Amino acid sequence: MSDATSPRTARLSVPGREPVELPILESTMGPGVIDVRGLYSATGLFTYDPGYTSTASCQSKITFIDGEKGILLHRGYRIEDLAEKCSYLEVCYLLLRGELPTRAQLDEFVHHITYHTMVHEQISYLFRGFRRDSHPMAVMIGVVGALSAFYYEDLDVDDPHQRMIVTHRLIAKVPTIAAMAYKYSVGQPFMYPRNDLDYASNFLHMMFAVPCEPYKVNPVMARALDKILILHADHEQNASTSTVRLVGSTGASPYAAIAAGIAALWGPAHGGANEAVLNMLKQIGSVSNIKSFLEKVKDKDSNTRLMGFGHRVYKNYDPRAAVLKKSADEVLAELGKKHNPLLEIAKELEKIALEDEYFVKRKLFPNVDFYSGIILEALGIPTRMFTAIFAMARTVGWIAQWNEMIEDPQQKIGRPRQLYVGERERPFVPIEARG
Ligand code: CMC
Repeated sequence: MSDATSPRTARLSVPGREPVELPILESTMGPGVIDVRGLYSATGLFTYDPGYTSTASCQSKITFIDGEKGILLHRGYRIEDLAEKCSYLEVCYLLLRGELPTRAQLDEFVHHITYHTMVHEQISYLFRGFRRDSHPMAVMIGVVGALSAFYYEDLDVDDPHQRMIVTHRLIAKVPTIAAMAYKYSVGQPFMYPRNDLDYASNFLHMMFAVPCEPYKVNPVMARALDKILILHADHEQNASTSTVRLVGSTGASPYAAIAAGIAALWGPAHGGANEAVLNMLKQIGSVSNIKSFLEKVKDKDSNTRLMGFGHRVYKNYDPRAAVLKKSADEVLAELGKKHNPLLEIAKELEKIALEDEYFVKRKLFPNVDFYSGIILEALGIPTRMFTAIFAMARTVGWIAQWNEMIEDPQQKIGRPRQLYVGERERPFVPIEARG
């Protein structure tokens, strides 16, 4: 290693070879990286890191996480400040453009989003191909992916102006598609978006209004939803974001890349955990059952996890969970639902788990999904829509990261290598001779 004034390098000794000096690329915050791009040509070896536990797949200026301290920053701003002081679209602007907007910039951005919320009328026919009981995430994967069929011919992803229009369309239309998925599942008519409503209120309107009577959005509900959207907006190189980058790296349609992100988000280890948490709390049923449930979680043979707990990056309290825990109390009180049995179970479960040797030793803390479902349920959102709302919120993060990838001259098609452990080359055996 060299001193602080000259670039650092890491020296790697490989048997039978001269030692290799690998450059260390410095970060502005958090760990730097050993640049292994030249490793294969210098040594004939690959690196091996299934699950990417020690591998940076890109450089990014959007989001920073300090998992040890439980800190989350978007473009340098604390998530707690953004959740308290911004609207969701203000945070979208920040993620996309790198700076908080002025009032005029925000007004212009809101205008662009608002005027892209309708979907092509032909889209509504796509829904009829689905069973009414389809999971909303399955429907969203299909319908968001289908946007690529509506906006394909003229799309040049290297043109920043066209990318901006794609960005506006996706942020505007994904909530419309999510609400349509819900309406279809309950057999109600689709509700067109309303341009006089803010982003969260418009979504609540599309979810809960019906054509035969006026629907007044409750501002407490709209603010609570807006905060949930902010808390889910981006989270650096998680599984779904990495999926979007990987698909986008091939030059595929961004609508198809976002559909792939939605697919990755659906899994219970990722965004699907919010739905799983609520089902788990309902299954536990009462505070008196917590101890036996935790015994099951700790028994490795049971294959049961405490959903909403643990995180690849956070080895401390997820700051988003802290905001949501406080918000759950406030929202339930404002909605007159102060005594919520699920919130009581969740809080007691958290308290017992945080004192339990199993969770302490493994640094398992509540994550963003632990409390979000309780708030969403209090807003009247059905459990099966929880992950769809996560997808709606994360669309901005996916598209911001996709834009950053397209603009990064160092990015290539994503193409990992492997450690091959299969058969060596062998002679082909004709079917008659196989016995
Ligand atoms: N309940 C019980 N044990 C757990 C849990 C949990 N929720 N999470 C991790 N562990 C144990 C795991 O069994 C392992 O124990 P051991 O060392 O004895 O084998 C140890 O902790 C490390 O776990 P891991 O699976 O190697 O850790 P990971 O970084 O690969 O997984 C995770 C991270 C989020 C997938 C995992 O913690 C998990 O499955 N949590 C529950 C699902 C969940 O809440 N997901 C939402 C994540 S946050 C939002 C999002 O990303 O969408």
